[in-house]
This record gives sequence, structure tokens and C-alpha cells, in this order.
Amino acid sequence: MKLVGKVAVVTGAGQGMGRAIARLFAQEGAIVIGVDLKRESVEETFSGIDEKCLARSLDVTNSEDVKCLFDEAVLKYGRVDVVVNSAGIGSVDALVDTSDESWARVTGVNLTGTFYCLREAVRSMKATTTPGSVINISSTAALTGEGPAHYCASKAAVMGLTRSAAREVAALGIRINTIVPGPTNTPMMKGIPDEWTEAIIKGVPMGRMAMPEEIASVALFLACGDSSFVTGQNIAVNGGMAFI
Ligand SMILES: NC(=O)c1ccc[n+]([C@@H]2O[C@H](COP(=O)([O-])OP(=O)(O)OC[C@H]3O[C@@H](n4cnc5c(N)ncnc54)[C@H](O)[C@@H]3O)[C@@H](O)[C@H]2O)c1
Repeated sequence: MKLVGKVAVVTGAGQGMGRAIARLFAQEGAIVIGVDLKRESVEETFSGIDEKCLARSLDVTNSEDVKCLFDEAVLKYGRVDVVVNSAGIGSVDALVDTSDESWARVTGVNLTGTFYCLREAVRSMKATTTPGSVINISSTAALTGEGPAHYCASKAAVMGLTRSAAREVAALGIRINTIVPGPTNTPMMKGIPDEWTEAIIKGVPMGRMAMPEEIASVALFLACGDSSFVTGQNIAVNGGMAFI
């Protein structure tokens, strides 16, 4: 029970890694506010777990709604201790086929949405003098380039965002880190062509995809006091596929 008494916001909590993280945090004693595009998917995440947890619908690309969510959390619980930015979208667009809309959508969710949630997280932690932990999610594709250009660009940018923001608020005791997952068995991976998946797995020295719970356990480490001197880091969880 490493998160007893903590208040956590998890985006993308309706499936995949966000779901595994939200469930683990709740099992570790946190009050979890899970958000996703559809509230029902988050309610499913919490089913049978803990009635303290809250499910909300939120589009992370809407900065006003992101602000309202954090305002609600602070009003209800007094502070937010942990934020995980797991909401994200992939793409299969080749560079020359990437429309302006696709570029804006992928960078909008993966980078701008992460920024909006990070900004509100830090604002609320500063206002309530909470030594919190923010965990962003990048991708090993940003290290290897094995993915669409706009996806890789958005995920590489999240690592830069993490390094800068972490330095800025380190003296306040607010820690910001990024998990850099390799291929992980979630609904997102089911959306890409089979031959891509096979090729991707061949490139993983451990010879398999991660399970979402293997990402969640690293998120728990970064969320709790076990990582009290860790900030500004991009931590690869990718079966040895690439190094930072
Ligand atoms: N699965 C992988 O192999 C893999 C590898 C590396 C990185 N990642 C990254 O990990 C994160 C989680 O991925 P996943 O595999 O769990 O994906 P997923 O598609 O299974 O889940 C992502 C969740 O984010 C939600 N979401 C999408 N847009 C949103 C928005 N605008 N506002 C709020 N919620 C939104 C979706 O509804 C979905 O529930 C993503 O950022 C992804 O890019 C995934």
C-alpha cells in the first residue's frame, strides 16, 4: 500500500496502460480520478475496485476542461499528489500522406494534451504546496524512429518537456519523469498492421511485448516515495530495445 492518502489523476484511464496504472494506484490505496474521452470506459476500469475512485470524461486537448478537472480535484480533496499522462493516440500515416489534420491531432493529444495536464498539475501542486509527482508517457519509437513522423516527434518532445519542467520545479519538491515504453500489449497495438507488430517484436531483445502491468509497476515506483530523488528522467521500459 504505497499510495495511501494520495490523490492521483490518470489520463487515458479507460483502457491500456492508463487502465493498468489507475487500477494499480487504487489497489495501492490512492484516490484515483481517472479520465478518458468516454466516462463509461473509466467506470469499467474501476469496477470492483474501490468506490472512492472517480471516473470523468475529459478530452485532454481542451485546456479549459483540463483546468476544471484539476479545480474539481483540489476543491474535493484539497490537493493532487500524482498525475499520469497516459492519454495518447497512434497513427499509421506515412510522412507524405500525413495531412495537416492528422499532424494536428497526433501532436495535439500526445504533446499539447500532456502539456495542458502537466501545467495544471504543477499549478495545483504549487498552489497547495504539494510535493507531487508527474509521470508522462513517451515511446521507444521516439528513440528508434520506428513509427510515423508526427507520432515520433510528439513523443520526443515529451522527453524535452519533462527535462525542462522538472528543472524548473525541482526546488519545490515537485518531480516530473517520463516512462518510455516499448511495444506494449494494449488496444493501441491492436490497431496497427500485423506485419508491423511482428517486425517490432523481432526488434525487442526480450522477444515479446510488455504487458501494461509492467508499465504500471514503473509508474508506481515514480509515483511513490521510493523514487524521492528521481526527477527529470526518461526511463525506458522496453525489453532492451533501445537506450536513452
Ligand atoms: N501500446 C504501445 O505499444 C505503446 C508504446 C509506447 C508508448 N505508448 C504510449 O502509451 C500511452 C498509452 O497507450 P496505450 O497503449 O495504453 O493506448 P490505448 O489506445 O490502449 O489507450 C489510450 C487511451 O487514451 C485515450 N485518449 C485518446 N485521446 C484522448 C484525449 N484527447 N483525451 C483523453 N483521453 C484520450 C483513449 O480513449 C484510450 O483510452 C500513449 O501515450 C501511447 O502513445 C504506447
